[in-house]
Amino acid sequence: MRTDQLIRTFVEYYEERGHRRITGSTLLPPPGDPVLFTTSGMHPLTPYLEGRPHPLGKRLVNVQRCLRTTDLDEVGDATHLTVFEMLGTWSLGDYGGPLSLDWGYGLLTEGLGIDPGLLHATVYAGDDRTGRDTDSLELWQGLGVPVELTVEDNWWPKSVDDNEGDGPVGPCGPDSEIFLWSGDGPPQSTPTRDDRWVEVWNHVTMTHRRLADGSLAPLPQRNVDTGLGLERLASLLQGKPSVFACDVFDPWRRLVPPLWPLEEPDLRLVSDHLRSAVVVLGDGVRPSSTGRGYVLRRLVRRVLTVLWRQDASRSLGDLPEDLVRHTLDHFRQDVRPGDVLRTLLDEEQRFGRLLERGRRVLARPRFQGPLSEEDFHYLHDTHGLPRDLVTSLRQE
Ligand code: ALA
Repeated sequence: MRTDQLIRTFVEYYEERGHRRITGSTLLPPPGDPVLFTTSGMHPLTPYLEGRPHPLGKRLVNVQRCLRTTDLDEVGDATHLTVFEMLGTWSLGDYGGPLSLDWGYGLLTEGLGIDPGLLHATVYAGDDRTGRDTDSLELWQGLGVPVELTVEDNWWPKSVDDNEGDGPVGPCGPDSEIFLWSGDGPPQSTPTRDDRWVEVWNHVTMTHRRLADGSLAPLPQRNVDTGLGLERLASLLQGKPSVFACDVFDPWRRLVPPLWPLEEPDLRLVSDHLRSAVVVLGDGVRPSSTGRGYVLRRLVRRVLTVLWRQDASRSLGDLPEDLVRHTLDHFRQDVRPGDVLRTLLDEEQRFGRLLERGRRVLARPRFQGPLSEEDFHYLHDTHGLPRDLVTSLRQE
């Protein structure tokens, strides 16, 4: 099943159950939101989760592009992307968590044909914040799906990380996650013990608002917020070993290798980061030394570091316009591919100049021996030279 068909099946399934489709927002959260980028489908809906009536009612469904910088170091494994799409559903003070899980199970098994024997659930075990989520536990037991109980892994947002370092202020609550077995043989073990269990869908019962001091205040209404990773589920349904092998990346796999022959891990990183950079540019961000622009700059520089490690003549200006257009079209971004390519090229030239400076600085006698932590800090803070760049420059 291709991803566009998966999106249609998902949205229609929820429309049949009274949900109205809302348009996904850009990656830029609304003003006043503490997060740098939209990291989850619920961000644009925060006011409605906190009680404001939504003009389209209490049941919503959408597809939301998200960006998680906390996952940057994991990009390249089988399941993490920087920009990804989340299929989301919401009950704004309407139905509760168990019905949401029951529908989710129905969609995965009957709607998408997944063997129920390949599913595992996790449920909030309870702690001093709030008691065990027995309703979800009983729902899964009734369906015959194995359940693992956890505390930290079943509260969303899990930690500061989920909110990009700004503190998990905002709606939160216990969740129940649905995992799909990705191993070759029969399912074994449990999600926390075997990472062949891939988390595909999170159903959060939003009961509280976390305040800046870390305390919890009850929300005026009980909501359900769910998020399903589109590329993750698509790759599993397509029998592919990683998100990079699902149809979303077909054009990247076709057009990048003839341009730059790369080993698989580098191809994944380059495709992920460039695709993410195009989407971020498409949403109007420009490279800069702070905030969103700095995230964009880091993405582009990581790509260039990988590309130039093998061949310093590689240039982002060679990126086929079709690839940029395909990405912009997919995210319905009304931006000219040529403009995106020009910005990438400007950024590349700026980085090239920085490297030249880096080589000059590193040639100083002070940096001839082993580098201390203090040296790395100095090179980063004073000359803008990141650690991996310094390391690779010294290996030249
Ligand atoms: N907001 C929840 C998540 O991102 C659904 O996992």
